[in-house]
Amino acid sequence: MINSKKTAVLTGSTGGIGLEISKILAKQGWNLALVNRSQEKTNFQLEELHKSHPSQEFTGFIANLMDASDINRVAAEIRSEYTEISALYNIAGLLTDKRIMSPQNIEGHFALNTLAPYALTQLLRNQLGAGVRNIQQTVIVNFSSSAINAVKEIDVRNLTNPESIGGLMGAYATSKTALTAVSALMKEELLKDGILIQVVDPGPTKTSMTGSSDGMPWYLLLLRPLLFKPAKLQAQRLISAVESAVS
Ligand SMILES: NC(=O)c1ccc[n+]([C@@H]2O[C@H](COP(=O)([O-])OP(=O)(O)OC[C@H]3O[C@@H](n4cnc5c(N)ncnc54)[C@H](OP(=O)(O)O)[C@@H]3O)[C@@H](O)[C@H]2O)c1
Repeated sequence: MINSKKTAVLTGSTGGIGLEISKILAKQGWNLALVNRSQEKTNFQLEELHKSHPSQEFTGFIANLMDASDINRVAAEIRSEYTEISALYNIAGLLTDKRIMSPQNIEGHFALNTLAPYALTQLLRNQLGAGVRNIQQTVIVNFSSSAINAVKEIDVRNLTNPESIGGLMGAYATSKTALTAVSALMKEELLKDGILIQVVDPGPTKTSMTGSSDGMPWYLLLLRPLLFKPAKLQAQRLISAVESAVS
């Protein structure tokens, strides 16, 4: 069992904003549990973290977070390693205009962007509650997007298998709206255990998610070099915002 003083669980830490957040938290002295789908990328990341911070604990867990059975398995693995978790960053995300279905036949954006953060919150809830001992308030950070402003209403009957996918302003925006709504619904209940759930929008960021035409509207791809910021800068802003929200 790992010494879980100030442990943060991060999903989607192998690239983009998640990678930068992992570096900042490691520098701040956090132990990190990294949940990713690529063993190779995770091993590389763990090696780099161990080299820079030899006295801290960094552990990798492998899961396709679009797969409910993988989520259950990985949560059990995390629970058996950590009794206390002081932060959960649900960063892993999907943006595509293609129809990808999860092994449970749930549309991919909804499975990964909405259901995975919800399931991890529930499955790690006892450890998150216990993590309050190490920090003023345990935090769960869920990654939403300004794309939710494009969503006028959600037909819940269509969430698991929408008629069209539609990329950024379609199933992606709907899944992030659902995540935002679910986070708001859980807020009060979690606060009773000292767990603060925060929904953040990192803002337009230069990552692999926004670098291809797979889900990104053409006009945003044109504006990207001018308007989108580096992941390192957005990660720094985001961590500062999370820190100032903790009471
Ligand atoms: N970039 C932006 O402008 C922007 C704006 C608003 C919100 N966001 C949100 O911020 C978060 C991070 O975005 P980003 O731009 O940094 O994305 P990114 O560069 O595409 O990184 C996404 C991360 O999620 C992981 N991932 C993808 N599918 C997964 C799966 N099925 N199971 C486990 N891990 C999976 C990726 O792993 P691999 O390395 O294996 O692919 C990667 O580590 C996302 O939730 C995104 O929706 C981003």
